[in-house]
Amino acid sequence: MRAIVVTGQAAGTVGMTLVQRPEPAPAINDVVVEVYASGFVPTETAWPSTWTDRPGRDRTPTVPGHELAGVVTALGYGTTGLSVGQRVFGLADWYRDGTLAEYVAVEARNLAPLPGDVDFAVGASLPISGLTAWQGLFEHGRLRPGQSVLAHGAAGAVGTMVTQLAREFGAYVIGTGRAADREKALDFGAHEFVDLDTDALDQVGGVDLVFDVIGGDIQARSARLVRAGGTLVSIVGPAEARPADGRAVDFVVEADRAQLTEIVQRIRDGRLRPNIGTVATLDDAVAAITPTERITGKTIIRVRP
Ligand SMILES: NC(=O)c1ccc[n+]([C@@H]2O[C@H](COP(=O)([O-])OP(=O)(O)OC[C@H]3O[C@@H](n4cnc5c(N)ncnc54)[C@H](OP(=O)(O)O)[C@@H]3O)[C@@H](O)[C@H]2O)c1
Repeated sequence: MRAIVVTGQAAGTVGMTLVQRPEPAPAINDVVVEVYASGFVPTETAWPSTWTDRPGRDRTPTVPGHELAGVVTALGYGTTGLSVGQRVFGLADWYRDGTLAEYVAVEARNLAPLPGDVDFAVGASLPISGLTAWQGLFEHGRLRPGQSVLAHGAAGAVGTMVTQLAREFGAYVIGTGRAADREKALDFGAHEFVDLDTDALDQVGGVDLVFDVIGGDIQARSARLVRAGGTLVSIVGPAEARPADGRAVDFVVEADRAQLTEIVQRIRDGRLRPNIGTVATLDDAVAAITPTERITGKTIIRVRP
C-alpha cells in the first residue's frame, strides 16, 4: 500500500515521504480500514508517541495521521460491533502506524459508524477536534448552561468545535485568536472576540471556564480570569497556571464511540459545521501538511480520491 512516513524526530516533517509499505494485519479486536480521508494535527511530530511504542522503543519509520474516515475491510479475531463494508470514522492509536496510508489497523472501539450522508473528508475532520472539545467542555470542564467560556484559538480546529458546542449548550462564548480570525470566530458562534495581540485580555472579566489551546503567558493571564469554582482546561500539556479558587485540568483526548455519534449527528442536522482548510490527495500530502504559509482549518488528505 502507499503511505506517508516520517523517519526520525530530528528530521521532523523534513524526512516525510510517500512510500510503499506492507498492508497492516488486524490484531485482536481490531478492524482494518481502507482509508478514504485522513486528518493531520500540525504538532504530531512533537508527540513522543509518533516515534516510539508504548514501552518507549523506537518504532520509526512511522505513519502519521490519527483521524480517519473510511470503510472496514477486515476484522481481527474477536472483533464485534463493526462489520466488513461498514463506513466508519474515528481515532487511530497514538502509538501505532496512522492514517496517512491506504489502510490502517485500529481497535474497533475507537471508531463509530459514519452515516452515508456524511462525506469522508468531513468525517476525518471531526474525531480529534470534536472529541477534544466535547471532553474538555462537558467532562473535564463540567460546563453548565448559562456559564461563560473563554475559548482560545476560536478559529482553529479545536476552537471552532469548542465554540459551537458550548454555544449550543447555552454558554456565553468569548473567542480569542489573531486579528485575522475575528470574523471566522464570530461566524462559528462566538458572542465576542478578543484579539490576543491588541485587545486587553484582562478586560474580559470573570469566566467560568477557560479552554486553553495555547499555553504559556496566555494561560497564566487566563487563569486569573477564572471565577470561584471555575475551571481552566488545558490541552497543551500540564497546566502551569492555576485559578486562585478553581480547578486546573489537562488531558489528552480519548476515543469514545458514543461521543463520536453525538458529534456526527450534530453535523447531519446542522448544529455543527466542520472547519476544513486544505484538502489534498496522498500524492500532494507532504506539501499540504508542511505548509510554508499560515493555514486555517483542518488539513484533510483524501487518500482515496
Ligand atoms: N490534548 C489533546 O488531546 C489535544 C487534542 C487536540 C489538539 N491538541 C493541541 O491543541 C493545540 C491546538 O490544536 P488545533 O488543532 O486546534 O490547532 P489550530 O487549528 O492551529 O488552532 C489553534 C488556533 O490558535 C491560534 N493561536 C495559537 N497561538 C496563538 C497566539 N499566541 N495568539 C493568538 N492566536 C494563537 C492559532 O493561530 P496561528 O495558526 O496563527 O498560530 C490557531 O488559529 C495544538 O497544540 C494541538 O497539538 C491537544
